[in-house]
Amino acid sequence: MAQSFDVVVIGAGPAGYIAAIRAAQLGLATACIEKWKTPEGQYALGGTCLNVGCIPSKALLESSENYARAQHKLQAHGITVSGVKFDLGKMLARKNLIVRKMTAGIGGLFRKNKVTWLQGHGRFVSGGTTWKLEVDGDRGSEAVEATNVIIATGSSARHLPGVPVDNRIVCDNEGALDFDSVPERLGVIGAGVIGLELGSVWRRLGSEVKIFEALPTFLGAADETVAEEAWRIFSGERGLSIALGASVGTVSKSKKGVTVAYKTADGKSADLDCDRLIISIGRSPNTQGLGAERIGLKIDAKGFIEVDKNCRASLPRVYAIGDVVRGPMLAHKGEDEGVMVAEIIAGQHGHVNYDAIPWVMYTMPEIAWVGKTEQQLKAEGVAYRGGRFPFAYNGRALGRDESEGFIKILADARTDRILGVHAIGSLASELIAEAVVAIEFGASSEDIARICHAHPSLSEVMREAALAVDKRSLNG
Ligand code: FAD
Ligand code: NAI
Repeated sequence: MAQSFDVVVIGAGPAGYIAAIRAAQLGLATACIEKWKTPEGQYALGGTCLNVGCIPSKALLESSENYARAQHKLQAHGITVSGVKFDLGKMLARKNLIVRKMTAGIGGLFRKNKVTWLQGHGRFVSGGTTWKLEVDGDRGSEAVEATNVIIATGSSARHLPGVPVDNRIVCDNEGALDFDSVPERLGVIGAGVIGLELGSVWRRLGSEVKIFEALPTFLGAADETVAEEAWRIFSGERGLSIALGASVGTVSKSKKGVTVAYKTADGKSADLDCDRLIISIGRSPNTQGLGAERIGLKIDAKGFIEVDKNCRASLPRVYAIGDVVRGPMLAHKGEDEGVMVAEIIAGQHGHVNYDAIPWVMYTMPEIAWVGKTEQQLKAEGVAYRGGRFPFAYNGRALGRDESEGFIKILADARTDRILGVHAIGSLASELIAEAVVAIEFGASSEDIARICHAHPSLSEVMREAALAVDKRSLNG
């Protein structure tokens, strides 16, 4: 007889595993179907984020940044280091250990919360008062019934047509997190988040990195002033070589690597020979093999499952969350949707404030923002006031020798309510949390300006930026 649950979640990435835990916390009999396998053939939880995304990339960013610090930054502190070397094998093993700890941790959380993990590929078979699904795993096919289904199947890397990815020479995120040697010349297609983060990792470890970006503008989603500062820093000394407005033609494998034929923004044809190539041109939602067509689940023209603002799909008691639906492809956005949906199923009033989702790029310096950019406010005709303060005037930033960048706050000209906060600088990923709280609570710039911030701390830059909105910075 088929196992029967109140809630079955398909996919155990950050969206799915959080939805399953929250549903179980609320007393619902919950199962989560997950098919991911490690290279060693073991089933694993955590999805893209934990296995081949957020977590391993941040581990390598940290290791490579430490190497870069030892090479270039310690001298300023009067510390002489010589013969600095790194062991790539150890670096990758450390990253893999973190991944294993974190994914095993979700297994522990499932046991603690009594979430049943169904190992294998899940698909819809038919609908009715209960949804009928099947799970194909190593032990054969298993029938499962569910009153509610939450689809959290995530996304996969987009590839270029006609360019096969072998994840050795031509790689997407999976291969790019696991090179067995540092490529001398690394090509990257796409100057988005992955291109910049992983390009930075391999650049710091010694690769010569060339990034091809189709768009004529750099970091179009960021505030323009932040994008300008980032361009200045990233393309400067020891930086990345980024070709904007580049049109990539053929990509052909050669004996030694791969050759990328491209046209520059001014129409000149050129070739780049590189040892390895990363393709990071965005991600596509995973809906293949889900049985969506069997039950008539609506999927939009771009392949995302259609949902309303509460992540309700087009069929009763079916929800979809995370990368497989509209909105930014960010782990924390998916997690919050997971909590919302579980609470709605349990009869509560879950919600997600899509206006208060932070973005972070873990480059050096880091970039983080929440809310509207200045160009968005201009386009929407919103009257605003802006305040900006540089890290260069902050004692903690100088002490850390990380004084590049600034924080900028945009507030409504009439009410002073904070509409957007944009940071480029040391630990911007952590500093942005204060801005997220402020936006969530509908705070004004005056509120932040009047809150006591520890001295000396990087957070004082946030306060000074808030004071700058009213042109009354105290330290600048
Ligand atoms: P996923 O994490 O993709 O998980 C979906 C899961 O569903 C997978 O495990 C898959 O195996 C499973 N699945 C799919 N179909 C089925 C099926 N039919 N049956 C059973 N199982 C199925 N985001 C951030 O917020 N911060 C970051 O720093 C960050 N860094 C990133 C770095 C890289 C290199 C990449 C690639 C992504 C990064 N992201 C980051 C994005 C983040 O990984 C995604 O937004 C997040 O993983 C989406 O979560 P999800 O649960 O929707 O999907
Ligand atoms: P992306 O959407 O961030 O960037 C893709 C870039 O490739 C864009 O700038 C696009 O214009 C460019 N591009 C597209 N087609 C191209 C072509 N044919 N030639 C040259 N350039 C081309 O996508 P990316 O970097 O692949 O990352 C996928 C998603 O993963 C991101 O959107 C983000 O949501 C998530 N992510 C988040 C991170 C974080 O939060 N720190 C880190 C890494 C990924």
